[in-house]
Amino acid sequence: MLVLGLETSCDETGVALFDTRRGLVAHALHSQVRLHAAYGGVVPEIASRDHVRCLLPLVQKVLSEAKTERVDAIAYTAGPGLVGALMIAGGLASGLGLAWQCPVIPVHHMEGHLLAPMLEEEAPEFPFLALLVSGGHTMLVLAKALGDYQLLGTTLDDAVGEAFDKCAKLLGLGYPGGAALARLAEGGDASTYAFPRPMVNRPGLDFSFSGLKTAVMLQVKQISDGGALESAIADIAASFQRAAVDTLVSRTLKAAAQVGAKRIVVAGGVGANLLLRQQLAASFDGRVYYPRLEYCTDNGAMIAVAGALRLGDAVDATEIRAAARWSLESLRPPVAA
Ligand code: KG4
Ligand code: ZN
Repeated sequence: MLVLGLETSCDETGVALFDTRRGLVAHALHSQVRLHAAYGGVVPEIASRDHVRCLLPLVQKVLSEAKTERVDAIAYTAGPGLVGALMIAGGLASGLGLAWQCPVIPVHHMEGHLLAPMLEEEAPEFPFLALLVSGGHTMLVLAKALGDYQLLGTTLDDAVGEAFDKCAKLLGLGYPGGAALARLAEGGDASTYAFPRPMVNRPGLDFSFSGLKTAVMLQVKQISDGGALESAIADIAASFQRAAVDTLVSRTLKAAAQVGAKRIVVAGGVGANLLLRQQLAASFDGRVYYPRLEYCTDNGAMIAVAGALRLGDAVDATEIRAAARWSLESLRPPVAA
């Protein structure tokens, strides 16, 4: 069965074709990063317009790569995300679903991230602990089974990706700067600045990153006032990254011990961070699963695979779903197809 996956929840247009027997057969991605860079963040109206421009050509591209003219089911991200942007994939899924008379499946964006490691040869089995870390979310989730998710902890303020992006901006690295900050950190000394590890000694499993961001901001200001920022940015980046990763790792290990997890899945854009991957692998006494780097950030493949696992959850094709907010815990196991 061939499932088309469409992702337009934020600033990437992602399209993929997943074959339930053969796995991923084609995928294409268009990033809007350059369009939004001038504004220092995602401009929703610009995002929607660019999805309109790019989505259909990307669908045509993956269909022609896969040498097929139609599919058996269409999955699209129905939330959470920017409503105007979500409507683009929802609208196309609805139109194609009616034209091709095939099932249309609305997918939860974070479930897509959580299931992205299923695209790999060695897919994790349920139950597992998931650390979902992106520009909009920082969550620890106990995934008991497909569609049975318990939220163990979340951020009380900024998402960790947002903290990476804000610090990158302070260091003049552009937007979104998480990956650039990580690259810069490779040449820095992480022990130079003692930034706080927020919440690590607090009870519970929640996160907070705004204090860390403020500490970096004050440090940057102090060094800038002394006129020495340029020579200090790699050390600041490395010290910030170490503090953020230490926080993520210590909370994740605590959650793993609490629920007796034998497997951890790390997904979402910040899951591409190599220090995070190294630290977790070195300190967790079990197996850690990641999607490959290109499926950590937003993409259509994770939506296609999530749709393939939820074929029974198809809705009337005339109904376009787009939810800015949608809790992962409200999901239910899939209806049998
Ligand atoms: O999952 P994603 O593509 O989009 C959202 O759903 O938010 O995540 C994007 C986030 C951005 O904040 C970006 O700066 C961050 O992931 N990111 C990284 C790295 N690569 C991307 N953060 C830290 N290290 C990286 N290597
Ligand atoms: Zn995402």
